[in-house]
Amino acid sequence: MSREVCFQPLMAKDGELGMKEDISRVRLSYGRSIAKRDFLGRFYEIFLASSPEIARKFVNTDLEKQQELLAMSVNMVILFPQENKIAKNAVGRIRESHSRSGLNIEPHLYTLWVDSLVQAVSEHDPEFNDQLEVSWRKVLQIAIDYIVGGY
Ligand code: HEM
Repeated sequence: MSREVCFQPLMAKDGELGMKEDISRVRLSYGRSIAKRDFLGRFYEIFLASSPEIARKFVNTDLEKQQELLAMSVNMVILFPQENKIAKNAVGRIRESHSRSGLNIEPHLYTLWVDSLVQAVSEHDPEFNDQLEVSWRKVLQIAIDYIVGGY
């Protein structure tokens, strides 16, 4: 990832937001979402229902513990594009644990993960709109490309 990302202007061409602005909007949106008590539970409900393949992966998982891990790791995923060292380490660990030789999470499953998270945010963040959805997808995709690159 190039360093220029940190110095991008707030508005890039065509009225598109710069990555720095996307990240700050997504952080605020995540804050508003996670402040609602059932947000993470709802995410897992949507995610597990999205495919039998996903449900099968989590049959032996304590979903309460998993929710705490998810809450932290989404923060790391959001901070990842800014070259944050802690985020880079955390996402690097997920890249290893989710790879073919570990949890064996096939790349196409990340699309369902993103769609489920965006759906849960749309239901919990009162300020959610189409532009915010674009920001969410843009920001999440950077860490996901990195994780999938390690498959
Ligand atoms: C960017 C997206 C994702 C993030 C941030 C994430 C994060 C995590 C974290 C932090 C853990 C626990 C620690 C570890 O094993 O590394 C975990 C475990 C796990 N993740 Fe993910 N994950 C993501 C995507 C996925 C997807 C798409 C699947 C597909 C089914 C998945 C399935 C699992 C499973 C099965 C576990 C183990 C649960 C257990 O301990 O029983 N993850 N994930």
